[in-house]
Amino acid sequence: MAKQLIRTELIFKEDIDYAALLRHVMKMGKDKFIEEMIESGLRGRGGAGFPTGLKWKIVKDDPNPVKYIVCNADEGEPGTFKDKEILDKACEKVIWGMVLAAYITGAKEGFIYLRAEYKYLATKIRIAIDRMENNSRNLGIHFKLSLFFGAGAYICGEETALLESMAGHRGEPTNKPPYPVNVGYLEKPTVVNNVETFVNTMIIAEIGAEEYKKLGTHASHGSKLFSVSGDCSKEGIFELEMGMTVQQFVDEFGDGDTKAVQVGGASGFCVPRKEFKNTIIGFEGVPTGGSMKVFNSSRSMYNILENYLIFFEDESCGQCTPCRVGTQQLLHGIRAVKRKEKPKTYLDELLRLAYTMKYASKCGLGRSVGNAFRSIIENFREEIVY
Ligand SMILES: Cc1cc2nc3c(=O)[nH]c(=O)nc-3n(C[C@H](O)[C@H](O)[C@H](O)COP(=O)(O)O)c2cc1C
Ligand code: SF4
Repeated sequence: MAKQLIRTELIFKEDIDYAALLRHVMKMGKDKFIEEMIESGLRGRGGAGFPTGLKWKIVKDDPNPVKYIVCNADEGEPGTFKDKEILDKACEKVIWGMVLAAYITGAKEGFIYLRAEYKYLATKIRIAIDRMENNSRNLGIHFKLSLFFGAGAYICGEETALLESMAGHRGEPTNKPPYPVNVGYLEKPTVVNNVETFVNTMIIAEIGAEEYKKLGTHASHGSKLFSVSGDCSKEGIFELEMGMTVQQFVDEFGDGDTKAVQVGGASGFCVPRKEFKNTIIGFEGVPTGGSMKVFNSSRSMYNILENYLIFFEDESCGQCTPCRVGTQQLLHGIRAVKRKEKPKTYLDELLRLAYTMKYASKCGLGRSVGNAFRSIIENFREEIVY
């Protein structure tokens, strides 16, 4: 069931004694805290929504003595700009979330994979790392944390491509399985979590699973940072409880003439006005890593779709045929229909191609191109073929 739109203020709350919080978890014990995380229902905030407690448990239970913790701060999804804000305003909380992960899993080393465009945050992060390393040593936790700079490729936000690039290889996704929790950085068990996910683990350490679960819905617990942009009455970053409908979101952020909301960035879904009331923002409806782009009736949905396809064609790593060729064909295809070189019915062939890409592509990039494609073609066909 949908929730009301409710603002929360947990993520940027910084007046916390992190060392005391760690001591509290240490007293509780690793297994009990993992149970607490699983009970909280926390799912990763980077987009895919894998249960965080389970991820940590798998790495914790792995007998390999060498393990790593990686914070994914690549933030490449178009329309998402919340991780840089977290690192700017609540850097210590992210870092202590990583210490918590290190303590639970037994990892001794970690990395923040920061997109190159966020280099201006590096000094601040390094100062916070130095402070953390001193304080955590006093707790008996020896965790070495470093910064690693991405080079601006969208695909390097995908966890296996990210780990490949960290190891000095081409930033290309590898087959899954094996998953990074078993075979990750330098082939060791590795926790890869989004910036906001680490913050949420500290929130759970602070308020407990019971309180945390009261926020959000059955499938989408907690609150979330939304990056709001486009034709809206207010834009920026807002922390909201999970589980509101798109209608509630539009009532708060729209400009009174909203015709569509792209939930989850270019790889997400385009929700048309007729679906606003029935669509929940969350894992039970349309999931989002945070990107919310609002479009009013002055916008051409053809231009929006063409823009997304140019992005995907550019960012496809080219490793597998369905994605490398599929992204090109979808882009050329809608242009050909627009120029009337292909009949309107060609769009149905392109829809079938998008469907094939979903099942035949090697990684999440190629698999998600069809989300925006299908939802825009199906709901705004008249804007593509007029
Ligand atoms: C093309 C692509 C780009 C991605 N970019 C990011 C990103 O910038 N940040 C992120 O946290 N996850 C990104 N992901 C998801 C990661 O692969 C991974 O699921 C995530 O970092 C796991 O963390 P979480 O469980 O805390 O969400 C991306 C996935 C794909 C397929
Ligand atoms: S789906 Fe696309 S981005 Fe992913 S491996 Fe294949 S070509 Fe590369």
